Amino acid sequence: MKIDIEILKKLERSIDIYNPENGEVPIKILGYGEISLVFELLNSSEQIAYKRIPIFDNEMQVERHIWAYNEYNRLLKEDVGINLPEYDVAWFKDEEGKIQFYCVQEKFPAESVGNKVIHKLSDQDIKTLILLVMREMKKVWDYSKNHNTIDLGLDGQISNFAIVGFDPNSPKVDLDSKLIYFDTSTPMFRVDGNEAMEAVLFLKSAPSFLRWLLKALFLEETIGRYYDWRKVTIDLVANFFKEQKSELIPELINLVNKFFQEEAKDFKIEPLTLEEIEKYYKSDSRMWVIFQKVRHFDRFLKTKIFKKKYDFFLPGKIER
Ligand SMILES: Nc1ncnc2c1ncn2[C@@H]1O[C@H](COP(=O)(O)OP(=O)(O)OP(=O)(O)O)[C@@H](O)[C@H]1O
Ligand SMILES: [Mg+2]
Repeated sequence: MKIDIEILKKLERSIDIYNPENGEVPIKILGYGEISLVFELLNSSEQIAYKRIPIFDNEMQVERHIWAYNEYNRLLKEDVGINLPEYDVAWFKDEEGKIQFYCVQEKFPAESVGNKVIHKLSDQDIKTLILLVMREMKKVWDYSKNHNTIDLGLDGQISNFAIVGFDPNSPKVDLDSKLIYFDTSTPMFRVDGNEAMEAVLFLKSAPSFLRWLLKALFLEETIGRYYDWRKVTIDLVANFFKEQKSELIPELINLVNKFFQEEAKDFKIEPLTLEEIEKYYKSDSRMWVIFQKVRHFDRFLKTKIFKKKYDFFLPGKIER
């Protein structure tokens, strides 16, 4: 992958974080999360996705993060045997001495990403897709089970997987379809119980006046979720509420429970229930809405009142 640092520097000089697609350097937004803005450079022949991660204060943090990121990718790809896109990082200090950091990945077609795909597939094929996701996840938790020193986590939401060779004009998924997992910019692994990524970086997208509170109340629990296969699966299934496909949820619960009982019986995972998935979804989306409101307020304070820079891109209203 050929990364053009000069273009990225120019992008950072002129980025309008309220409206990133309207800056001097033309980009197209591919997606975003709590922390990252994912985009491609228009006017470029390279098939590259950039994930802008504005959370680093010093080079030591960057170096540790690059180590964790490379190691997480290597573990998943080589030791666990999950398909990942090609990956790299790029970073520099901008004119104000601030660190600008990007995870860089081979880009794949937007139509092949899970949360798009499920709106094209038949219900039967959606179930096959979820079964394939469960099988990928099993590789991860098998690995952790068999390795004493290393614990791996994963964010199993459907929006983190793409289907190799998916054709939106003839949408289908079968048991031989191959998945790619690409949400590796937040490395989730522990060595001897120690988080590889500096845990407080997870909170960087929260306004500073909230950070200490979140840290005290939720940090352990939030990160811990990604290491717990049952909880990751609850998240995967509950996401179908957000995707306006809640009618499928009871069938998906049956499917994953059957999977836990048969293909993953060694893990002795308790069956999921509809009630807990509903409850989880309600509290998760309520938290998310509150969090977004506070972030918008923080951005307003920083940019309009204190005339400072705000680093994060905040999405507008999201249907849920
Ligand atoms: N390599 C890629 N090619 C094409 N689109 C991508 C690629 N990587 C990410 N995307 C798009 O961007 C979205 C968000 O990316 P990703 O899941 O990697 O980060 P995230 O969930 O935003 O992470 P975080 O919440 O930690 O910031 C994806 O759901 C997908 O639509
Ligand atoms: Mg994601």
